[in-house]
Amino acid sequence: MKSLSIVFSVFLVALLAACHDNPYKQGELYYTNLCANCHMEDGGGLELLVPPLAGADFVRDHPEKVACIIRHGMSGKVVVNGIEYEGEMPAVPELTDFEIVNVINFINKAWGNDYPPVTYEQVKSALENCE
Ligand code: HEC
Repeated sequence: MKSLSIVFSVFLVALLAACHDNPYKQGELYYTNLCANCHMEDGGGLELLVPPLAGADFVRDHPEKVACIIRHGMSGKVVVNGIEYEGEMPAVPELTDFEIVNVINFINKAWGNDYPPVTYEQVKSALENCE
């Protein structure tokens, strides 16, 4: 049931996203629906359970890892802005390579972040080389 409703909400998101040909808007929509319940609307994370994306040195310093984290999830220790987290992020396999580009480019410019944009080629090759 849970996965059915996930499939349905992804379908809805895709439908909504199709109405916006602006890639930033599409990225924002995916973020809101697939990431914000953990990383929060403002990208600030959740206490010591979920690391932030807003102002996050991890996102700034490891652009090649972000796509793999979205596609495959993440577990084990990670240090973000000097704070150690050890949680578990589930994979978000429903996003295509192209949609991942848009989510990353949203994150890289949202909440005052000013990290360079990523291209489709960069994300595609990162995804082919996930550890
Ligand atoms: C169910 C909760 C959950 C969802 C949904 C989720 N994450 Fe995460 N995310 C986490 C947790 C927990 C970690 C830290 C994992 C660890 O400690 O190894 C994390 C780590 C990360 C990191 C690396 C650390 C950092 O903060 O820079 C990035 C980047 C990230 N998530 C992006 C995303 C994006 C983008 C989405 C949506 C496509 C998403 N996450 C959805 C819980 C979640």
